[in-house]
Amino acid sequence: MFFFDSQIWFIISFSLPLLMWFISKNKNNSSKSRPPGPPGWPIIGNIFDVGMMPHQNLQKLQSKYGPVLWLKLGMSNTLVIQSSKSAEEIFKRHDLAFSDRNIPNSFTAFGYNKGSMALAPYNDYWRMIRKLCSSELFLHKRINASAPARQNCIDLMIQRIKDDSLASRVNGESGEIELDKYLCLMTFNLIANFMLSRDIMDLKSEKGNEFYEAMKGFMEWSGKPNLVDSFPFLKWIDPQGIRGNTGKSLTKLLNMVSGFLRERVQEKLSGKVKETKDFLDVLLERNDDGKGTVDELSEKNVTIIVLEMFFGGTETTSGTIHWGLSELIRNPKSLKKLQNELDQVIGRSRKVEENDLNKLPYLQAVVKEIMRLHPSLPLLLPRKAVKDTEFMGYSIPKDTTVILNAWAIHRDPNLWDEPLMFKPERFIDSKIDSKGQNFEFLPFGSGRRSCVGMFLGDRMVSITLARLIQSFDWELPRNVSPDSIDMREQMGISLRKLVPLIAIPFERHD
Ligand code: HEM
Repeated sequence: MFFFDSQIWFIISFSLPLLMWFISKNKNNSSKSRPPGPPGWPIIGNIFDVGMMPHQNLQKLQSKYGPVLWLKLGMSNTLVIQSSKSAEEIFKRHDLAFSDRNIPNSFTAFGYNKGSMALAPYNDYWRMIRKLCSSELFLHKRINASAPARQNCIDLMIQRIKDDSLASRVNGESGEIELDKYLCLMTFNLIANFMLSRDIMDLKSEKGNEFYEAMKGFMEWSGKPNLVDSFPFLKWIDPQGIRGNTGKSLTKLLNMVSGFLRERVQEKLSGKVKETKDFLDVLLERNDDGKGTVDELSEKNVTIIVLEMFFGGTETTSGTIHWGLSELIRNPKSLKKLQNELDQVIGRSRKVEENDLNKLPYLQAVVKEIMRLHPSLPLLLPRKAVKDTEFMGYSIPKDTTVILNAWAIHRDPNLWDEPLMFKPERFIDSKIDSKGQNFEFLPFGSGRRSCVGMFLGDRMVSITLARLIQSFDWELPRNVSPDSIDMREQMGISLRKLVPLIAIPFERHD
């Protein structure tokens, strides 16, 4: 959505004829009451104010303009919310009025957006899928039943980390590993097992490699700020080639998921009976048993929804664990405390399991603290006003993009003591949770469009982190100290660590 490089000048010259129209439109709007905001440039508006790190730059504007901000991003009216009070106002009073989504151009290839749940407008199709998710797909019962498959994926990752680190030591090297690579593969398989009862990411298999490369390509291209999102009339030109490239990856991904779907249909036809139903079984049943709006849950839409769960559940989860281990290594006291809790409650002779998680209050506090400092989607997923709306005394026109800066709220010194410090203790004996009812802490959003996979996401982060801490002592390579770990951020489809964590695992024994 945001863009800051030389192509901007292409757009300026291309769009000069629009200038007069734009100015006159602004004049017409100026009589209405809008929130305060920095003055914008003709045509491009406030694109430079937002830049490549929108969550950080928007937070800086707060001291001058307050927590409710009005921006013009190209042709798009934009409302920015940066305080827990205004977030509460949105979610408690205006959730319905702001329940549509903006559709990034990169997600429009092959009609992806038409089958998507995350990008669907607030309509019957979205309601049907969302209901299906909450009543059948993301039930605690189903999440619990799939725990053994997750345990296997994590076992495999731990074994690979041990093997690779050992192999490096045998070669006379330090034994260091780049954790992120292992996390990415594992989270793909966690989601694949939840939805399709199979591993997808075996890099030794050609198909696994192809899926991984296509996924990586899609994530990289769709995470780039796209000029077309601010100037929709440019979509025919696609000046940065983003839609072209995401389109190529999407074709591959949709074809592959569609292949999994056809295999499952064949299995069913051949009478193969599965003991437990997975996500795909439920979607396919829905597709052929005549419940609900069956036409809309076509084979294509089932394919898109399955793929969407990979988009929604992999980067967010692996990114959070990556930040988490980095924070723990930077804060050895917290790491030790967590290890002690695991040793006392679980011991070293057996592996921590998902049904142990509610006996581990410090682990739960650590996970919340990671999500507070490093929310995967710092601006949530932008929403769109369904209609003209009066909001906190301002008039917000239909189709305004609504951005909630959760990252800024999570670091607000009026809400959090020493907000930049990693202090899991702040969540011990606190009633604040991540389900969207506490407006100072919104890692999964809130209201109708909050994260549909929040329980699964929370579960995957907690159990993986617990296993990594229970299984290994972690040290840093020579020349790196806890204080010098590079914690800079990189904004793409989610907020990731710019420089991957490199660390040395030492197996912990009984
Ligand atoms: C640590 C893990 C995760 C984090 C931090 C996270 C965060 C979020 C956030 C902030 C939103 C937008 C909420 C809003 O706009 O108010 C969202 C939406 C969504 N998430 Fe997640 N998520 C995670 C895991 C997952 C998983 C595991 C899945 C599925 C397997 C998933 C699927 C989705 C979907 C489909 C939406 C769109 C919901 C809608 O528009 O109705 N997420 N997520």
